[in-house]
Order: sequence, then structure tokens, then C-alpha cells
Amino acid sequence: MKQDMIVILDLGSEENSALARKIRSFGVYSEIHPHDLKKENIQALPNVKGVILYGGKNNVVDGVKIDVFPEIYDLDIPVVSIDHDGKCPILDLNDLEKFLFDTCKCEKNWNMTNFIADQVELIRKQVGDKKVLLALSGGVDSSVVAALLEKAIGDKLTCVHVNHGLLRQGEPEEVCKVFGDEMQSTLIYVDAIDRFLDKLKGVEDPEQKRKIIGAEFIRVFEEEARKLEGIDFLAQGTIYPDIVESGTKTGKAVKAHHNVGGLPDDLKFELVEPLKYLFKDEVRACGKELGLPDNMVYRQPFPGPGLGVRCLGAITRDRLEAVRASDAILREEFEKAGLRGKVWQYFTAIPDFKSVGVRDNARSFEWPVIIRAVNTVDAMTAEIAHLDWDLLDKITKRIVTEVKGVNRVCYDLSPKPTGTIEWE
Ligand code: XMP
Repeated sequence: MKQDMIVILDLGSEENSALARKIRSFGVYSEIHPHDLKKENIQALPNVKGVILYGGKNNVVDGVKIDVFPEIYDLDIPVVSIDHDGKCPILDLNDLEKFLFDTCKCEKNWNMTNFIADQVELIRKQVGDKKVLLALSGGVDSSVVAALLEKAIGDKLTCVHVNHGLLRQGEPEEVCKVFGDEMQSTLIYVDAIDRFLDKLKGVEDPEQKRKIIGAEFIRVFEEEARKLEGIDFLAQGTIYPDIVESGTKTGKAVKAHHNVGGLPDDLKFELVEPLKYLFKDEVRACGKELGLPDNMVYRQPFPGPGLGVRCLGAITRDRLEAVRASDAILREEFEKAGLRGKVWQYFTAIPDFKSVGVRDNARSFEWPVIIRAVNTVDAMTAEIAHLDWDLLDKITKRIVTEVKGVNRVCYDLSPKPTGTIEWE
């Protein structure tokens, strides 16, 4: 293994993730583990050069005082405890640097080249000569996992790309081009468009739509998995925030871990989750290093139910095409205006009503398209992006002339709260 590691034992501090990121910013790899990790578990981790115990106020979590096993202090590497009542020796950046390099004698060897080399070794060790299955949506996380597994185990990986008809323009083609043609992965492309749209016909309620899409996705994936023989592992694009948000031993769950728990138990796969200690920006860096194209690596967040929650109310094929086409125009114009990466998320939505307009000197009765463009840090709250009027004007003119059935464009001015980022 190429990387030195600092282990943070989580005694309830809310700053554990921030500390891990600070350590990584010095070029030293760091992982957070539960406070009750045993001495031998730490010894079994590769290249551990030091341990930091990091607690919340008085190390009390939910009214109970917690502590590490006392034998942790007998490890033959430096162990430091951060007293959370304000006195944090090493929370100061200079002191942290001294701790890492003078006390623990770490080397600055945390970088994506080494991370990938280590993961390739670990994946090969875990998988052996068995086979791995991956649901490849084309989103950043699953794409990076696919590229990493492709490098580690080649044709022992099978990717399944389910096209539910709710993907953005060009996405299924891009997935097939990058993974099927260029990387020559074993890629099973499933055209499930009719199946999904039939199930969704006439369904207006957003929660119902989400449930149908989620359940049908699992059914399609499960059917494909059962057709294959000798698969022992399921790879997932779980990343570190997914684990933190699902609740650690000391933290509270923010939301259910969306990667785990969705698939039926009787599929009986062991999990391969090589990105589970990475933050999102690190996942992107990993994807770049693995040679994935920028439009895949810097892809915006995209909900699992896809355009299904942007084609508002009961989904119809004509409105679905209108939302897909207007979204493609919006993305193209934002790209040209240099806004990719500057505005956090942008897309269009289309409501299920029409309004009166004029086209070619005659009355028209067509749908409006809504533009949504927001900035946020964590998607829990959001502000609208302050866009240039000339840009909005240009996008509007293109949408009303190029997208069939659309005669108006509106800009959604709502912050979150009160609006959510998505409309459904
Ligand atoms: P809301 O609409 O709740 O969205 O303000 C916050 C962020 O989450 C994305 N989003 C989803 N992501 N599965 C996902 O993986 C989903 O079902 C889903 N719904 C919303 C949304 O695009 C925004 O970035």
C-alpha cells in the first residue's frame, strides 16, 4: 500500500469530516472510524501513522459518556486526543502540520495516483477471480466506480445500464460510447423506456411517481442480474457523505443511505464500494485521473427519477421530449457562457398546463418551460443564480423556436426554502 494514514476515532465531534479533509489537504490520507474500534483493528489497517480521538462536548453523545478502549493508548504510534471544550492543540493548522509530519512522520503520499493504485490492489484482493455487477447510471459516482473496476478487474466486471426513458439528452449514448466502445467493458444496455412510461401513465402524484420509478428500476436490474451466472459481488458508488448522512454510531441520520437497502436480500451479493471514503470533489479528481471525459466527471447532480420529476404531473411522451430538448438547450448555452461549474445546478421543468400565445400570426395554445438555476453548498438550502438577462433572452428565444409545443419560458425565482430545488 502506498499511502500513510491517520485514523480519526469518532467520539461525537461534528467536525470529524472537516478534520479528515484538513489532513488530506496536507497530502496525508485520513479515515474516520467508530470510537469502539479495537487496538487490533487499527493495527490491521494499512500504514497507520497516528490516531486522533475527536469528541464532542465532554465526549457525551445522547446523554451517554463514550470513550475509546484504553489499550488504544498502548499502540506504538502517536495517539492524541482533542479536548472539545475549546482547547484543540492540533486544530490549529500549524500544529496539525507539526503533528502529521514531525510527530507521526507521515509522508505526503495521498494523491489520486496512489489512491487508485491502492484501490486496484484492494479490489483485486477482495474479488479474486469472481465476478462483479454494477448498476451504471452514468452519474459521476457510478461512472468512476466503473472505470476503477475496469482498471482493476477488466472483464470480470459487468455493467448494467438501464435506460428508463427519463435520462437527459445524449446520456445513454455517452455511457455506451465511454464504457462499451472506448473502455470495452462488458456493458448490458437495457432499453426499458416503454416499460417505465407505461407504468407511469396517468400517475400525477410526485411521490407515487418516484416510488414507481424506484421499484421498477430494482425489478429491471434484478431481472438482468438473475440472467447472469456466477456473480458474487455488487459494486456501488457509495461515497463518504452517504455514510455520514446515514448516521454513524455517534451522529444522527439525516437521510437513508440511498445506495444500500434498495435491492432484495435474496440477490445475496457482497458489496464492493471503493469510493466510500471519498468526498465528492475527490471522486471527480479520481475520475479525471482515470481518464473519464469532463462532461461525465463534472456532471451536475441528477435525481434518480431523472426527468420524471421535471415533467410535472402525469408524464406524457411529448412533454417529456420537450423537457429533454429544453434542458439540452439550457445546458449548451450555460456551457457557452462559461457557467459550467459556476452555477451549482440548472435544468428545466415543464408543467402540465398550456397557455395562450401567438405564433406565425395565429393563436397558439402550448406549454411553458420553467428554468431553474440555483447555487448552494449542501443542497439543504439554495439561492437562485443571478443570471444575465441577455443570456436568459437567448435561451428563451431558442427554446420557443426549437422546442416543439412550447410558447413561453419562465424563470423560477424561489429560494430553498420555500421551494425545493426540484419541482417534484
Ligand atoms: P431538493 O429538490 O430536495 O433536491 O431540493 C436537493 C438535491 O437533491 C437532488 N435530488 C435527488 N437526488 N435522488 C437523488 O439522487 C433523488 O431522488 C433526488 N431528488 C432530488 C436534486 O437534484 C438536488 O440536487
